[in-house]
Amino acid sequence: MKDKYGILGYPLGHSLSPYMHSRYNFYLNNGSGYDAYEIASDDLESSLKELHTAGVKGLNVTIPYKQAVIPYLSSMDESAAIVGAVNTLKYTAEGYIGYNTDVTGLRNCLIKNGLELKGRNVLILGAGGAARAAAYVAVRSGCKSLYILNRKLEKAGAVCRDFGGSSYDYSCLNTLPDTPFFVFQTTSVGMYPHIEDMLPLPDEMLNRFEAAVDLIYNPMPTRFLEKLSQRGIKTVTGFDMLIEQGLASRSIWNPEEKISDDIKRKVYDECVRYSRS
Ligand code: ATR
Repeated sequence: MKDKYGILGYPLGHSLSPYMHSRYNFYLNNGSGYDAYEIASDDLESSLKELHTAGVKGLNVTIPYKQAVIPYLSSMDESAAIVGAVNTLKYTAEGYIGYNTDVTGLRNCLIKNGLELKGRNVLILGAGGAARAAAYVAVRSGCKSLYILNRKLEKAGAVCRDFGGSSYDYSCLNTLPDTPFFVFQTTSVGMYPHIEDMLPLPDEMLNRFEAAVDLIYNPMPTRFLEKLSQRGIKTVTGFDMLIEQGLASRSIWNPEEKISDDIKRKVYDECVRYSRS
């Protein structure tokens, strides 16, 4: 095998990235491989060292390590440093450099779906690495106001300290302003295999949502998005963001790689079919 790539996270049973990147590698006929590295949290530092020693050229990082890997990197690019989370690592002789392609992925996903954050009241559910990428995009896009709702209030507060906005937990939902919200669902609640799970949001609040992006792509849609669609609310699954962040990661790993629109379309369609199989 020529070059090795992969994804680091726990658990990874839900992840489409190994299939998606393997299909690009197949059509590009580049001899590269892409594997799932499912590791427990107490192994993170040693696992990263082992992958580096083994010459793994690039990694994606997912739940729950987008922030936890940072101490073990040689450096970070600017947007990853501002967001405070990484989802892409690139090999250098000194160690891995961290990047955040969730930001690019989310921006391109919004454009693709004709959604505009400028002047909107943005509500982010969750306060992990993905929430921080969403907060960065919302603020940079000129949102009117930002609200972070999280189970652990102190983590929501930390996002607000870095990006502005107000923090809430589920005990003070009734103190959220009575406005329409553009919502980003960034928690792992509702992700395969726990597809019946939903965050405890009252119906009265769901009725005020004007659009929602759920970063989960397995299942597609989540129960949360299904419930909103039934109310006529515009919803977007995490699938377009997955595709867009994957392409952005590949151009960091191999800036010279060219992927034709035909290959992009084929891989997109195959991933949709694969995720539904
Ligand atoms: P990532 O960096 O990929 O976003 P993460 O840092 O593990 O992953 O963040 C996961 C988010 O999902 C967190 O906001 C977490 O809430 P807490 O900070 O309160 O733990 C949220 N989350 C996970 N399970 C949850 C649950 N059962 N109910 C509510 N929120 C949950």
